[in-house]
Formats: sequence, structure tokens, C-alpha cells
Amino acid sequence: MPSNHRYTGLIDRYRSRLPVSESSRAVSLGEGNTPLIRLQNIPAIIQKEVDLYVKYEGLNPTGSFKDRGMTVAVTKAVEEGSRAILCASTGNTSASAAAYAARAGIKAFVLIPDGKIALGKLAQTMLYGAVIIQIKGNFDDGMRLVKEVAGQAPVTIVNSINPYRIEGQKTAAFEIVEELGRAPDFHCLPVGNAGNITAYWKGYCEYASQSRGLPAITDTRPVMAGYQAAGAAPFVKGEMVDHPETVATAIRIGHPQSWDHAWRAQKESGGWFECFEDAEILKVQKMLAENEGIFCEPASAASLAGALHDLASGKIPEGSLIVCTLTGNGLKDPDTAIQQCSLKPVTVEPKLDAVKRAISDRL
Ligand code: F0G
Repeated sequence: MPSNHRYTGLIDRYRSRLPVSESSRAVSLGEGNTPLIRLQNIPAIIQKEVDLYVKYEGLNPTGSFKDRGMTVAVTKAVEEGSRAILCASTGNTSASAAAYAARAGIKAFVLIPDGKIALGKLAQTMLYGAVIIQIKGNFDDGMRLVKEVAGQAPVTIVNSINPYRIEGQKTAAFEIVEELGRAPDFHCLPVGNAGNITAYWKGYCEYASQSRGLPAITDTRPVMAGYQAAGAAPFVKGEMVDHPETVATAIRIGHPQSWDHAWRAQKESGGWFECFEDAEILKVQKMLAENEGIFCEPASAASLAGALHDLASGKIPEGSLIVCTLTGNGLKDPDTAIQQCSLKPVTVEPKLDAVKRAISDRL
């Protein structure tokens, strides 16, 4: 590597605010610094005066927000001499763990629910070279097993119960505050295992308190709104769910690990949890793609579904500044995307008049 090489990842950007030293060698793939996109067409469609932004985390190196936590978790694992990492996953954590392990030259073991992860996530995890163990059960079974195995094998857990994951993920809140020059009024997130809502709240609180020497940009924090799928909504029910089901497989979780932290974020911020049927989540995923050109995976659309619903009901007032995190890239789950599209590709002969007709018939 040339000596003047500059890293571009979030550890280099926020080193002093993360639990790494000056000499820590970052295991990085250039994660973070994702676009904060102001929606231009949807506010007009819903006829609301709002500043509605999406934080497009699908543009991280492996296509989800997990990379923010993984760069810190794997950097620390390597620093502490670990030769292998382990996680349970609904797909994105496993893809991210596999990539960062490959980058670091260590092994990744991942437990995934058999047949219940989106195809893109499986493809990534396989090609990055992780050892994939499919569990005949769900994510919650995998999480329980990971915790049991970790006590008995020399592996580092890189699920969000690893505090370094939360540390890395909090940087998304830093980026938002720095870009807007203030915290949003409302921050909307999909909630599964609840690590991310925990991380954002920590990030906003650190910024607000300037407890770690941050510039005095803001003294406010957003209201945190967490959204779940109706079939996997323990925070809405107020109790664990034993058989979670949803097309948004990323958040098909009934026993969230960061239960207490997420409730604290909700209470301290004056926020709430709500849930939506799969059909509503998919409708909003498509609406965002068709009207703004932004492709997120189904679970991610839960955040925008929530914002739109709460704007319609008045729970989020007009004039608010809202940020919705789009946690994962739409390319992760091509099957669900294709199934939703009534407009199928048109097949024609390779002739000029056939193509012209195909166009003029549809103008
Ligand atoms: N959105 C996506 C795309 C996710 O992959 C996840 C979690 C979430 C939202 C929810 O975040 O768990 O911090 O509340 N995916 C984990 C995984 C569980 O294994 O990839 P959370």
C-alpha cells in the first residue's frame, strides 16, 4: 500500500469517538458516509409539507448498515487476537461478517435460518467464503445457539450483543447531525433485534451531550420511532413472540436481544413502536422505487411506511424534519421485488419495428 494511502472508512473519520486507539489498524472496506437523500416526489403525493429524508444505508460495501458495526467489531476482534468470528443472522449480518472476515484473513461462521434468508444475502455470504450453518429454526434459535457455542469455542460473537457493533453503528447518527446541522425531529427505523435503534440513540445522545468532545452543533435529539412487521412485533405486543413471520425476512425476529436498550430509547426520546402488515411494507417499498428511484429491501421500507402512516394520522406533525433509515439495498432480495411487479418485461423479435411497436404501444 502506498504510504500516502488514505482510508475512507468510518473508523478513520470518527476514530476519537470510537473505542479504538491511534494505532489500531482498521479492518475497513470504506463503509459509512452514505447518502442522506431528500425525498422530492413523495411529499407531494401524500400532500404534506415535510422535510423527509432517507439515509440510504444500502450503499455500504456489503449493501447494509451492518458494515458500520462490523468494521469496529472485526477490527477489535483481530486486535484482541481472535482467529474466527461467529454470528446468527437473518442475512445481512452474515454477509457483512463474511466480508470483513475475508478482509481480515480470519474465519467467519454464520448461523442462518434454513430457507428464510434473501437470495442476495446468501450469495454474498457464500462467495465471501464463510462457513454457513443452516439452522432448522429461526433467527432466535440461531442467536440462542451462538451464545451457547461461544462459551465453548474460541470464536468472537459479532452480533449486536457485541458492544463494538453498537459503537460503529452510532456513527450514522453523527453523519446525519453533521449533514443537517442539527438532529431531525423524528428518526424512523425498522426494528428487529433492536441493535440499530440502540445505536442511533447512543449516537444522538453523545452528540447532544458533547460528552466526547464533539462540536456544539445541536442540543436536541430526535423522537425515535421504531417500526416492525405485524407478524414479528414483540415491541408492539410488549412481549416476546415465539413464531415470528414476515416477508421482510431481515426483521423476522421474535426475541430481540437489545430489548431493554430499545425501550430506553423509546422512553427517553418520547418515541413509540408500531407495526404494519407485509402488504403495506411492500407497497411502500415499491412506492419509493417508482417515485424516487430508490431501491431498498422490504425490511427497510418499514421505516418509511411508519413515517407516512404517522404523518397521515398527525402523530408526526407537518413541518417536521424526518429521517428514515433505509437499512439495506433492494438488490438483496430480488425474488420479493420481482414478485411485486405487475409490469413484466416485454419480449420481442430483434427487429426495429418490433421494438418501435413495443414503445409506441406503451407511451
Ligand atoms: N433492516 C435490515 C435490512 C436488517 O438486516 C435488520 C437486521 C434490521 C433492519 C433490524 O435491525 O436488528 O438492529 O433492529 N438484521 C439482522 C441480521 C438481524 O442478521 O442481518 P436491528
